[in-house]
Amino acid sequence: MQIHDKHFKPFITAQQIQQRIAELGEQLTRDYANKNPMFIVVLNGAMIFASDLLRTITVPCTLQTMSAKSYGAGTQSSGNVTVGSNIPDVAGRHVILVEDIVDTGLTLQRVSELLQQHNPASVTIAALLSKPEMHKTKLHLPYICFDIPPAFVVGYGLDYAEHGRNLPDIYVLDEEHTQ
Ligand code: IMP
Repeated sequence: MQIHDKHFKPFITAQQIQQRIAELGEQLTRDYANKNPMFIVVLNGAMIFASDLLRTITVPCTLQTMSAKSYGAGTQSSGNVTVGSNIPDVAGRHVILVEDIVDTGLTLQRVSELLQQHNPASVTIAALLSKPEMHKTKLHLPYICFDIPPAFVVGYGLDYAEHGRNLPDIYVLDEEHTQ
């Protein structure tokens, strides 16, 4: 499968994704019973994951969005994190940040620090993917669907130069067929 100049090969199927999301949803439903959690979706990448995850949650909860961006047009984290100015009112709330992927972790660190300044009751992270070997921060990550090696992936919300977000499965960069 080709996007722009790069080739990608199948990595995680839609069925595997849905199965893990159902498990994560059960775990969050158990852990956040009676806490009226506020899910904050970090746009754009997490919107597909969040829409499936939220429908597995069976306790009362609310939903907000925030925008944050760290990747440029390429396949490496820029390290420069831009966070949108709309910060939801998190005072006294149990916040679950929903993210597509934790790479260096700098985006989520920046977003969590910002939210902490607005007195939430707690902040945690639910992410579809994590690349533990790439982490540059000590984030606590109790709700991850899949730990993956440090390779570039697309699909299911994740993009390469804004393309590929619509793919139902996740694909990984095929180094053999990409210069
Ligand atoms: P971090 O700040 O380095 O953790 O980067 C997080 C953001 O970079 C994610 O929200 C994604 O938008 C993007 N990102 C990191 N790894 C990948 C990848 O393999 N494919 C597509 N986007 C990625």
